[in-house]
Formats: sequence, C-alpha cells, structure tokens
Amino acid sequence: MVDLDKIKNMAVIGGGIMGSGIAQVALLTGYEKVTVVDLNNQILLKSKETIQKRIEALESEKNFEKFLSKSNNSTERRENIDFKKKLSDFKSVGIITNGVNTSTIMGRLKTEKDISKGVADADFIIEAVPEILNIKQTVFKKLGEFSPPHTILASNTSTMSITKIAQFSGRPEKVIGMHFHTFFPIFGMLIEITPGNESSKESLEIGLSIAQKFPSLMGERFTIQLEKESPGLIANRIAITGAIYFSWLINQAIDNGISREQLDAAGFSSEGADAIGIDTVYYSAKYFEDNVSPDFAPSKRIIDLFNAGKLGKKVGRGFYEWNEDGPIKNLPPVEEKTTEFLKDHSDPETISAIKLNEACRLLEEGVVKSYELIDRVIMKGTFIEGPFVKGKEKYKEWAEKLYEFAEITGKSYLKPCDLMESGRFLSYQ
Ligand SMILES: NC(=O)c1ccc[n+]([C@@H]2O[C@H](COP(=O)([O-])OP(=O)(O)OC[C@H]3O[C@@H](n4cnc5c(N)ncnc54)[C@H](O)[C@@H]3O)[C@@H](O)[C@H]2O)c1
Repeated sequence: MVDLDKIKNMAVIGGGIMGSGIAQVALLTGYEKVTVVDLNNQILLKSKETIQKRIEALESEKNFEKFLSKSNNSTERRENIDFKKKLSDFKSVGIITNGVNTSTIMGRLKTEKDISKGVADADFIIEAVPEILNIKQTVFKKLGEFSPPHTILASNTSTMSITKIAQFSGRPEKVIGMHFHTFFPIFGMLIEITPGNESSKESLEIGLSIAQKFPSLMGERFTIQLEKESPGLIANRIAITGAIYFSWLINQAIDNGISREQLDAAGFSSEGADAIGIDTVYYSAKYFEDNVSPDFAPSKRIIDLFNAGKLGKKVGRGFYEWNEDGPIKNLPPVEEKTTEFLKDHSDPETISAIKLNEACRLLEEGVVKSYELIDRVIMKGTFIEGPFVKGKEKYKEWAEKLYEFAEITGKSYLKPCDLMESGRFLSYQ
C-alpha cells in the first residue's frame, strides 16, 4: 500500500472551470506543490488569477461576503455557511487560525504548458480537459509516458468510460475516475470514485483517501466508490436523464410561442447550463446519445448555442451575456399564457418518476448496491432529497406516469424498468 504521506506533488491537467477549482482545493489541502497544466500561458494566467481570487476570499469573512455577492453563487445554501466554523475545519491549512495567507498558499502553485515537465514529479494527477474522448485519451497517453511509474492518474470526466480513457495510458491499473460534483469544487461535498475494468483496488483506495481530504465549505466531504463504471456515474446519470423532461417541456413551450425569457421568469432558468459550460452540457448529452439511448440527444437550443460558440459564463456569453457580476438578465413579468401553459404541461412528479427509474437502473446494473446509498449521494451532491424518499411509496403510480410520458414524447427509454415497476428495488437496502 502506498504511503499517502508520500503523495506530495499534485498535477491538474486543464486549468479551466474544473481544473482551477480542483487546484484550489488541492492547495488548501496542503500539498507541497500543485501544478496546473494547460495549452498556453494566457489560459494559465487566467487560471492562476481565478485561484488567487478564490483563496483571497477565504482570508476574512468580509472578503468572503464580497466574493459571494460578486460571484453570483450566493444561493441561500451558501449564504447560510458558518464561515468561521467551516474555515477552522480546514485543519491542514488553517488560513485564519495559523495566520497562513494567500501568498504562502499561492507559493505552492505552479503553472506549466509543457505537459512532460508539468507531470515529471507528480505523485497524483487529476485530469480536467474537455469532455471529448480522444482529447482525454491523448492526454492519458502522455501522462503514462511522462509521469513517474508510481503515479495514479484520475479523470474528472462527467460521463465517460474510465476503461476507454485509460486505453493508451500504459498503466490502466493506475487509472481511476474522480468526479467532483459541482463546477465550484470548494462548495461541493460529493466526489464519486469510479473504477475502469482494470483499475487496481489500491489505486481506488488511494483515490478515495485523497478525495476525502479535499476541504469543502459545505461540511465534510462525501466520497463514494462505484461498483463499476456507468455513463454519468450516479448523480449525473440521474440528473441527465431528468433533463430529458426539461428539454421536452421547453421545446413544447417554444412551439407554443412562449419565449425563453418567459420561461426564465417563470423559474426555468438556464443559468446553470451557462455556469457548467454549454460545451460540457453538449458533449455530455452526445455521449449519452451515443452510448445509452438516442433519447438523450442534446436539445436544439444547446446545439445552436454550441455551434455559435456561445459556451456560457466562461466565454462571457451563452444563454445570457455575462459580466463580472454574473448573467445580465432583464426578466419580464410572467404572462398569463406562460402560467397557463405550465399549469397544463408541467408535472414535477414525472421528473421524480424519471429519476426513480434511472436510479433503479443503477441498482439493476450493479453500479451501486443500495437504494439508501443512492439517496445519500443525491442529497450530498445536490442538496435535494433522493428519488427513493417518495419513490418507495409512489413507484406504482409513477410507473404509470412513465408509460404515459414515454407514449406522448416517443421516448421509449423512459419506460419503467422492471426493478422500478415491480417494487423489487425495495430489497436493495
Ligand atoms: N463544468 C462542470 O460543471 C463540470 C463538473 C464536473 C466535471 N466536469 C468535467 O471536467 C472536465 C473539464 O471541464 P471544464 O468545465 O473544466 O472545462 P473547461 O473548458 O472550462 O476547461 C478545460 C481546459 O482544458 C484545457 N485543455 C484542452 N486540451 C488540453 C490538453 N491537451 N492539455 C491540457 N489542457 C487542455 C483547455 O484549454 C481548458 O482550459 C470535463 O471532463 C467535464 O465533463 C465539468
């Protein structure tokens, strides 16, 4: 077993939304050196500035408040963070308690555009390049060539097979999935660890221990190891399947002459997709379309934005135009026509039924052994209750809803699976 204390240097490949966020939590964990690798100096500089701003925000409660209000991430949940308590939980860093400051922490950050140099002395590597299989495979081939033989290579992929990502790495037993469930890793709790077909037990155990140590402002990290790989892991697989419903509803609304602004005003905001990245949303849907069912094809609106290069917050335009303070929204009052449409067409229980069905498929496929665990994963990942909380009582009624909905939409993937319809999932406790 590798001594975890010997893991001193971490490299993060890709300094975009996720890479910068992951480097931040790695620095806060206290690694001696964290190296961000990306394609050019301009991107690396931006990544460094982002990390610095986010670490400065943790130096004092005042900085933190300012950061939250400017970062457009001040959800009610985040506003309720007991700042001082959370910060004192960062024992390995103790920014406030030990007087460690941003420049001390930033002194441990390096940036590098030559991957062979960036990973030469890395003990653990986390890849966060775009969700495109051949880019990831090329990166992993280089990681296999240029990093020390003991180094474990983790991918933050949201959807893809670790077995395929590891294919040309030359060390598939040392390749694992390590998925941070949020575009802002310090605000997330859930990290899912996924095996590929050849990942060793030891690599997975090390990955779990490392993930568990990454600090989160929301409380203790929640890590889980999947029994086997699955497109979208647990949380994304359920969320992406649920998104089929929203795409359908939005398309219906648009066909009925209801504008996107009206839908936004009525609470169907597209801000989340902009923050995640329209390309990531697009590639994830495509991966599901190609590997799970054609019913996951990206919606027309996502395809249009993707083709127009409107990739969301990271480029300053997506569904919305973005400035430093967040998305520029001038929402109109909700019209009666919109209210009527939503009353007639939307049914939150159908979404719950879709999610329950997908969660049952995860049990059926052996990705996870217990439904209670799935509920915990959803709660820790999204802070909303899991599909089985109500599904335990409602599954029969919801199975009927799914037959109806699959019929209306022509999306046969949404028909209930046997485990859901029969209620046999109840034996997977
Ligand atoms: N955005 C999210 O909410 C989110 C959440 C969890 C996981 N993920 C996953 O994390 C990964 C990265 O997503 P992101 O949102 O950070 O994307 P991003 O577009 O913000 O960043 C990707 C970065 O990778 C760099 N890059 C591209 N090719 C590279 C190469 N060969 N070597 C080094 N760097 C390279 C790009 O220049 C870019 O800076 C994807 O697999 C995505 O599915 C995303």
